[in-house]
Amino acid sequence: MKLENQIAIITGGGGVLGGAIARQLAAEGATIILFDIRAEFAGKNAESVIGAGGAAEAVGLDITNADDVRAKVDDVFARHGRIDILVNCAGGSARSRIKVFHEQSLDVVRDVIGINLYGTLNCTHAVAQHMVAAKSGKIVNIGSAVGVQGLAGCVDYAASKGAVVSATKSLAKELGPLGINVNCVSPGQIPREAPDDPEAFARQHSFLNRIGTADDIANLVRYLVLPEASFIIGQNYVVDGGRTLAMQGSDARA
Ligand SMILES: NC(=O)c1ccc[n+]([C@@H]2O[C@H](COP(=O)([O-])OP(=O)(O)OC[C@H]3O[C@@H](n4cnc5c(N)ncnc54)[C@H](O)[C@@H]3O)[C@@H](O)[C@H]2O)c1
Repeated sequence: MKLENQIAIITGGGGVLGGAIARQLAAEGATIILFDIRAEFAGKNAESVIGAGGAAEAVGLDITNADDVRAKVDDVFARHGRIDILVNCAGGSARSRIKVFHEQSLDVVRDVIGINLYGTLNCTHAVAQHMVAAKSGKIVNIGSAVGVQGLAGCVDYAASKGAVVSATKSLAKELGPLGINVNCVSPGQIPREAPDDPEAFARQHSFLNRIGTADDIANLVRYLVLPEASFIIGQNYVVDGGRTLAMQGSDARA
């Protein structure tokens, strides 16, 4: 196990990707702190880590509340004495409120950017101070293939995730010389529930004959926080079964 004695904060730790990342980092020996606005979902993922023999705890918070983020991060540091890893995974699109931009409410736009961009920056700001003092740390941001390629109906989401990619590069330049690796993983479509027609879903969302899984994303996040990846900074890795290879549209093979 390569992350023994390390403390890893995973935001969005109650979610599908956050849960898979938690289980993979715990399998390497890290103690996992799951931050999520849905504390009960974070609690369930913590239980699954503990059930597999790992160590985890759930913390309820809203990452858009910078003061609360700082208080909760400082509390983790006070209780554990270190913070080695931050995975900024909390986020999402407007989902049921998705609309083309010129018809979208600017309140929704602000919400989406607030969670994906400010939430990520709030957590990074609070955690980086501890990592800078320790002269070591790993930060992995979760972007989106949409932030790289764009998608109609998702201007707010694409803008926020594109900004996460550019923040990753700038943070890497600032924090790299201080001993901290910052990178980004940008997933393609990873279904949160099994689709009715898996073959059609795979065909629509990738150039491979299978559906992307949360572990496809977690595998790379785990690698990026291991010592083997210590010479990698400022990169954005798209993990999407080739979806962004498509020239246009949301159907990869249209
Ligand atoms: N699943 C996909 O297809 C996909 C594709 C590209 C990018 N992503 C990104 O991956 C990340 C995880 O997505 P997921 O599929 O696991 O979704 P998910 O909805 O299962 O998990 C997201 C988690 O973030 C939490 N969250 C939302 N707002 C929050 C806030 N203000 N404060 C604290 N927690 C908050 C939610 O409660 C949820 O548990 C997101 O950033 C998402 O944009 C997902």
